[in-house]
Amino acid sequence: MQAWRVHELGEPKDVLTLEEIQTPRAAARELVVKVSAVAANFPDALLCRGQYQVRPPLPFSPGVELCGVVTEVGDDAGGWQVGDRVIGNPELPTGGFAEYAVLLGAKALPAPETLDDAEAAGLLIGYQTGWFGLHRRANLQPGETLLVHAAAGGVGSAAVQLGKAAGARVIGVAGGADKADYVRALGADVVVDRRTEDFVEVVNEVTGRRGTDVIYDPVGGSTYDRSTKCVAFEGRILVIGFAGGTIQAPPLNHALIKNYSIVGLHWGLYAVQNPALIAQCHAELTALAAEGTVKPLVSERLGLDAVADGVQRLADGRTVGRLVFLP
Ligand SMILES: NC(=O)c1ccc[n+]([C@@H]2O[C@H](COP(=O)([O-])OP(=O)(O)OC[C@H]3O[C@@H](n4cnc5c(N)ncnc54)[C@H](OP(=O)(O)O)[C@@H]3O)[C@@H](O)[C@H]2O)c1
Repeated sequence: MQAWRVHELGEPKDVLTLEEIQTPRAAARELVVKVSAVAANFPDALLCRGQYQVRPPLPFSPGVELCGVVTEVGDDAGGWQVGDRVIGNPELPTGGFAEYAVLLGAKALPAPETLDDAEAAGLLIGYQTGWFGLHRRANLQPGETLLVHAAAGGVGSAAVQLGKAAGARVIGVAGGADKADYVRALGADVVVDRRTEDFVEVVNEVTGRRGTDVIYDPVGGSTYDRSTKCVAFEGRILVIGFAGGTIQAPPLNHALIKNYSIVGLHWGLYAVQNPALIAQCHAELTALAAEGTVKPLVSERLGLDAVADGVQRLADGRTVGRLVFLP
């Protein structure tokens, strides 16, 4: 089969190579799936650079979320059958940027019927992270204001849709006019182009200087620091990621003085600590997809040959919306 592999760490465009390798076989508890669609995520770039929390042995294939069809079921892999359409996070080093990948049966989820392959591939990391962040960690309430940074990105775009589905007023921040249009299409009530506007000023203006109740922050660094200038009394700032490249070190006296909470989220840890919640979240997302409330907005459907270029553009912040590769 064809697979993109990383033999040495570095920038995605330099270290990803498309190779012909052996098709994987299912060991105990595993499924082999024929990849129908694999979404690009920032962690794919971090994996290539060796900066992700998981460091698979070299060589490995990135590609951290996919939709595929089961072609082989290992012993004790659950009740899956050959031909089942599933979504899941592949077991590295056999990631999704390939014609076939390996999933743990216990972690695979049924692909929602109402979504096509490219959409279904994007329903996992971004939407699960958004659901756990907004509902479980930040307790977002109907009528509250939600500010989403990198709102045209993978996790951000999902948070915009889930915020609207929860009855919040959503302010989306994105870099550039194309991304701002995409965030509008997602349903955000207010869109801020951070290249031409200051999100703090916009938030204070549209909330009558009250500030925003929940802030969804996948960027970190100075974006986090500025967010503390427009967080509401009893607001919650969700620490989602550090796509800006700097991990902030906030002065905690500021959280005390302004009565806000700084809330961390590591979605992957729920698979270890409380996997039943992931299934519950998936059931709710599937229901929201069936009623049309959430639908990953795929902006580029590309062939497998476009992986290195696509992941590099994502790493550089040059993508608009979701990129999905269809092997
Ligand atoms: N906590 C969790 O459980 C969890 C789960 C999944 C992902 N994450 C993290 O969430 C972050 C976002 O992941 P993603 O896949 O959704 O990526 P993404 O949002 O598609 O891409 C990153 C976006 O961040 C913005 N950005 C701002 N400053 C940037 C800079 N200096 N360099 C690059 N981008 C910059 C850009 O959007 P604008 O130009 O529009 O601002 C860019 O498009 C990553 O750090 C990832 O590791 C965390």
